[in-house]
Amino acid sequence: MKVGIVGAGLVGATAAYALTLRGSCSEILLTDQDEARARAEAQDIAHASPVSHGTRVGSGPLADLRGSAVVIVAAGANQKPGESRLDLLQKNAAIFRELIPQIVAAAPDALLLIATNPVDVLTDLTVRLAPGVAVMGSGTVLDSARFRHLIAGHAGVDGTHVHGYVLGEHGDSEVIAWSTVTVAGLPVADFMAARNHEWTPDIRAQIEADTRGAAAQIISGKRATYYGIGAALARITERVLGDRRAVLTVSAPTPEFGVSLSLPRVVGRSGVLDTVLPALTDTERAELAASAGVLRESLATLD
Ligand code: 2OP
Repeated sequence: MKVGIVGAGLVGATAAYALTLRGSCSEILLTDQDEARARAEAQDIAHASPVSHGTRVGSGPLADLRGSAVVIVAAGANQKPGESRLDLLQKNAAIFRELIPQIVAAAPDALLLIATNPVDVLTDLTVRLAPGVAVMGSGTVLDSARFRHLIAGHAGVDGTHVHGYVLGEHGDSEVIAWSTVTVAGLPVADFMAARNHEWTPDIRAQIEADTRGAAAQIISGKRATYYGIGAALARITERVLGDRRAVLTVSAPTPEFGVSLSLPRVVGRSGVLDTVLPALTDTERAELAASAGVLRESLATLD
């Protein structure tokens, strides 16, 4: 199973590293317009291979994506402190208009997994540029992980036993869907009450702010985020390659909202197989509609 990665910056390289450490695939091809950078990253990551799962890691031009089952697209500019994800749109859309047709020409059977921001709008653009190709965006898989991690800290259990979703835009309008949260199978409030954990509106508001603001906080401290998204991309990729029917909040075109956004989706080898709309509260539903509205406005600026 070969995975191509377009863009050998911090996100692309970290995704390659995560795939290597997890043994998610047999071969990784990194490609970047800065060939020396791609070569150096591939070389560095390849040295982790004999002490992990023996994955073949190399670099080359876009044509070398041939035979990839999944291509992760992580090319483009990333946020500077103070910028929003949507601020990147025009710059990165121009890059996508040039790159996507070349990726499809090289690897026509690959599923395209979009990581570049603003990921939802660029997922829509990719669907337009690559008709008939399976496309999904990393969406709020990362935000949902951040949310679960923060709740886990208060619950005193590990984050794999916390379930809950962040929906809508991967960005400032995202919906923190508290009604979907369970810990060890219990609604979160019941779990906290049963364990005598403090669980106040202030704590919930802080978790919400820290989930929504995580990227900005990290960017202000070290100028970029990449470990969280690298692991999320590896997770999505291996679920696709294994046709696992995992439920992940990837971004995909959603006809009822007229835009790509994140909802819990059943994901397999051919892409998004199904969407599971959670039983949201009225407020969450209104927030989701508003988030879709933000994305539609942004998408309209591409026309
Ligand atoms: C993140 O959320 C910046 O979208 C990137 O980490």
